[in-house]
Amino acid sequence: MNRPVLEGVRLNAPAYVKHQRLLDWVARMAVLTEAADVYWCDGTQAEYDRLCDALVRAGTFKRLNPELRPNSYLALSDPSDVARVEDRTFICSERQDDAGPTNNWVAPAEMRELLQTGDKALFRGCMRGRTMYVVPFSMGPLGSHISHIGVELSDSPYVAVNMRIMTRMGRPVFEVLGDDGEFVPCMHTVGAPLQPGQKDVAWPCNKTKYIVHYPETREIWSYGSGYGGNALLGKKCFALRIASKMGRDQGWLAEHMLVLGVTSPQGKKYHVAAAFPSACGKTNFAMLVPPKAFNGWKVTTVGDDIAWIKPGQDGRLHAINPEAGYFGVAPGTNYKTNPNCMDSLKRDVIFTNVALTDDGDVWWEGMTDEPPAHLIDWQGRDWTPQIAKETGENGKSRPAAHPNSRFTIAATNNPVLDPQWDSTTGYAIDAFIFGGRRSNTVPLVTEARDWAEGVYMAATMGSETTAAAAGAQGVVRRDPFAMLPFMGYHMGDHFQHWLAMGAKLEQAGAALPRIYCVNWFRKGADGKFVWPGYGENMRVLKWMIERIEGQAGGTEHAFGISPRYEDLHWEGLAFSGAQFASVMSIDRAAWQQELALHQELFQQLSARLPPQLNATRQQIAAKIAA
Ligand code: OXD
Ligand code: MN
Repeated sequence: MNRPVLEGVRLNAPAYVKHQRLLDWVARMAVLTEAADVYWCDGTQAEYDRLCDALVRAGTFKRLNPELRPNSYLALSDPSDVARVEDRTFICSERQDDAGPTNNWVAPAEMRELLQTGDKALFRGCMRGRTMYVVPFSMGPLGSHISHIGVELSDSPYVAVNMRIMTRMGRPVFEVLGDDGEFVPCMHTVGAPLQPGQKDVAWPCNKTKYIVHYPETREIWSYGSGYGGNALLGKKCFALRIASKMGRDQGWLAEHMLVLGVTSPQGKKYHVAAAFPSACGKTNFAMLVPPKAFNGWKVTTVGDDIAWIKPGQDGRLHAINPEAGYFGVAPGTNYKTNPNCMDSLKRDVIFTNVALTDDGDVWWEGMTDEPPAHLIDWQGRDWTPQIAKETGENGKSRPAAHPNSRFTIAATNNPVLDPQWDSTTGYAIDAFIFGGRRSNTVPLVTEARDWAEGVYMAATMGSETTAAAAGAQGVVRRDPFAMLPFMGYHMGDHFQHWLAMGAKLEQAGAALPRIYCVNWFRKGADGKFVWPGYGENMRVLKWMIERIEGQAGGTEHAFGISPRYEDLHWEGLAFSGAQFASVMSIDRAAWQQELALHQELFQQLSARLPPQLNATRQQIAAKIAA
């Protein structure tokens, strides 16, 4: 198989790779990109260590103090390459209608010309002077019927080592693939070819960026960024955008959901899948520590970001976490907000864009009450509280860590990892939760009375915006299913897919999961959060479980059922009836405005909007008006 590809370049395929279609594709891509070399990742620890050493020598990684943070590294990105780029993300379906109005669309032929086939195509020669890493990975446990395989070709060794943590990556994938297995081809380049003799930079990238998906042919092409969700193509690109389309075609769901296990003091275990937009504390919820008064309750993490959910043989919906690691936001994480996460970060971590302490460890805003006296910030500059104050913007100190700085860790670092997180059959889901960041309007928790009402809640979710979305921050944007940036087809078709799956399972006599809508982020008149959040969210979880068991009461209102004060367990928390009222209240005028915004979304999606959702909206509007 080691036939020459370009003069001086060999394919270097190991003998255990028997998949001709894959070999041909790698060869074609090596020709297109003019990679100087091809390296096939085997996924071993020795390989990981070797690549990390090379990244240290290249200046991309700094090895952290091994006594304080063993086997851990810090990467500082180019200041222009710090987040997903939603405005440069494209769903290139054959028909624009199939991508829908919430996605950027370019005709596939036009995009292929721009990226691959045109004389000046961006991928032509894009890996000159660089090695192309062949990164085979399984999303989901190797060999599970719920899992799917991808192969990423990337000129970034940072991507190769992150993919080893984030996915089941390496040689065993080829055993599953055999000589003709299906895989999703994932092309990635930082878009920074090197001329002969040209010195590399620590974080190569390109001002031009394209994150492109072809849902029909199930391909991903990513150009110009080395960062996170733009570059680790197993995550948002494959496990959400491509997989959501696969799920629709094949009768399953790929969702932007964490999955957690809750075990009651009686030893009964429940599984909950929860969708929140980016920056709503998903990692904190996935690793929740129940308050002391909940002695005997246990929360375990199955996944922190993505769930693949398929009907099992019992007719119930079973979820797996397709990932094997967490790429989480560092700022705000500390021993109070998320002790399990802090313990997960003790060793074997890749940090990106956090600050460096003088003793070779890391720091980010919120890690400690008092910042260290001196740091090197995420752009490699000196940082002291004084400098931060003098150079900050909008009356705020200049942060030492980028607000979207990240850690990459293996799921197995997590001390509360669910013992069966790796199960090949997945977990039967008892409840879905949908939540956004809303300082007003949406109550702390509401249970949907039926599946369609739950789908309505998910479809009309809104949240205040974050770093990855272009435009103003803090503005409410509709984020249906927390999937707005991650949907691989028409959002209206996704609503219909949920309704149809529910109807089919119900007809077959299966117990459907309950659906809840939550909002941890209501603010009081003083502008402060009223609900304490974090571990105290256990109180809401317990209510949900008691509802499932038919043990907890609630009060019915225009769009579902919410707890009364006496329906929640308050031991160990001083939270008054007045405070409760302020996180639960349903303001008629605010809801009339809210429903008008739901209507705006429905109008945008009208070509493919299931009529059932419009009918639900009208029912709610009538009840609010009554
Ligand atoms: C993420 C995101 O990085 O949702 O998980 O943006
Ligand atoms: Mn996410």
